[in-house]
Amino acid sequence: MDKYIVILAAGKGTRMKSDLPKVLHKVAGKSMLEHVVAATEAIDAQRRVVVVGHGREAVVDSLPDSVSMWVEQTEQKGTGHAVLETQGILGALNGATMVTYGDMPLITSETLEALFAYHAAENAAATILTSIAADPFGYGRIIRENGAVKKIVEEKDATADERAIHEVNTGIGIFDNKLLFEALENLTPSNAQGEYYLTDVIGAFVAADRKVSAMILENFDESLGVNDRVQLATAEKTMRQRINEKLMLSGVTLLDPATTYIDAAVKIGAETVIEGGVTLRGRTEIGKNCLITQGSRIENSRLENRVIVSNSTVENSVMESGSNCGPYAHLRPGTILHEKVHVGNFVEVKNATLGDGTKAGHLTYIGDATVGKKVNFGAGTVIVNYDGKNKYRSEIDDFAFVGSGTRLISPVTIGKNALTAAGSVITEDVPEDSVAFGRARQANKLGLAKKMPYYKGE
Ligand code: UD1
Ligand code: CA
Repeated sequence: MDKYIVILAAGKGTRMKSDLPKVLHKVAGKSMLEHVVAATEAIDAQRRVVVVGHGREAVVDSLPDSVSMWVEQTEQKGTGHAVLETQGILGALNGATMVTYGDMPLITSETLEALFAYHAAENAAATILTSIAADPFGYGRIIRENGAVKKIVEEKDATADERAIHEVNTGIGIFDNKLLFEALENLTPSNAQGEYYLTDVIGAFVAADRKVSAMILENFDESLGVNDRVQLATAEKTMRQRINEKLMLSGVTLLDPATTYIDAAVKIGAETVIEGGVTLRGRTEIGKNCLITQGSRIENSRLENRVIVSNSTVENSVMESGSNCGPYAHLRPGTILHEKVHVGNFVEVKNATLGDGTKAGHLTYIGDATVGKKVNFGAGTVIVNYDGKNKYRSEIDDFAFVGSGTRLISPVTIGKNALTAAGSVITEDVPEDSVAFGRARQANKLGLAKKMPYYKGE
């Protein structure tokens, strides 16, 4: 049987009180829509269509490659109307169409696969996914008669008795494709919201003696529909628990999972230890046997094996095996620390490459530089890379020794094995094997202290 998937993502999401279209709000670093699309990817569907409307351009831009088609719903007249917009693409096809909503970030591919299997086994015209909600407010209620589904009633249209029902419509259903479009064409907006409800298709099928089945989802979490930011936070929390549990079961130690914020796309190798209060964002990849201590924040960075990040911020950087940074280091975008590099406390690195075994232990700024291997930076070194308008690059060759308090006025080159005397201001290139003194000579005026105002003579 051919399968099609329709994902509804045209609504504004008024209750989010946001300029961003609702489905682009993120849960664990990925938009809700991306989560939903990812869950559908396990299904071998002939067509996967997204209905867009509000914020159309941004929503279309965000679509992953697996979505081949989208249609625009210019006016949001309800979920039934939204599905009808796909008629041009799907209307003439035989098969089963699954409709899902873009605001259900917690739905899993396992559930979607199970629903297709259930639908096939039941040989039903429509199969809906329902769930038992502790607080059903806002969801469509499942009205059953003698155990069989009769219809779905929306919160705003429900009687007090119907509102007392806890079995709710998750929003996901599978329909015989031809019958679906036939029913959609006959919908009327005669309800409290004046909308064309997809959910009315169920009542129409039952009235026409078509078989409607319902699969009850054990885990209500998955059915969460995010309409406001309170629900967004609930989704975030559940997603975080899921991500953290999966990582722990794969061999990563999380010392305090409740305070560890890891985005969905982050990868971490076994035996790595993550302390509490750590945030790992974006496409970060961390190898095996690493240690990330409390308070660290790592974004879109790649860490190889045995890397230590101690209470530091790492953004768009690479840390190769055995390298470490912190406590209180800041690796800004474009930093590459090769193997066994040590970047210590209060060191900032930006757009710079540090070769194998190079060390910058304390209070140093390395910006826009190419640094060779086993270079030593003394405390308080500053690469002066910016004149207020332009940025300049410096090069420091292998085994160089940059004395404490050196200021390198970029662009300069420090040759191999060269040394800059502590406190130097280096404005010219230093040839290899040379020692550069770039500081004023000291003069001692004997006895002059006695004439100075501060002098106490004790
Ligand atoms: C909907 C269901 C309700 C279900 C709940 C589950 C209907 C009528 N109601 O209610 O039974 O319990 O989801 O979370 O279907 N959308 C469009 N175009 C429109 C309207 C909506 O694309 O014209 C999209 C929205 O972007 C959203 C999804 O459809 O992603 C659901 O719409 P929403 O307004 O959130 O429906 P609910 O009131 O939550
Ligand atoms: Ca919703």
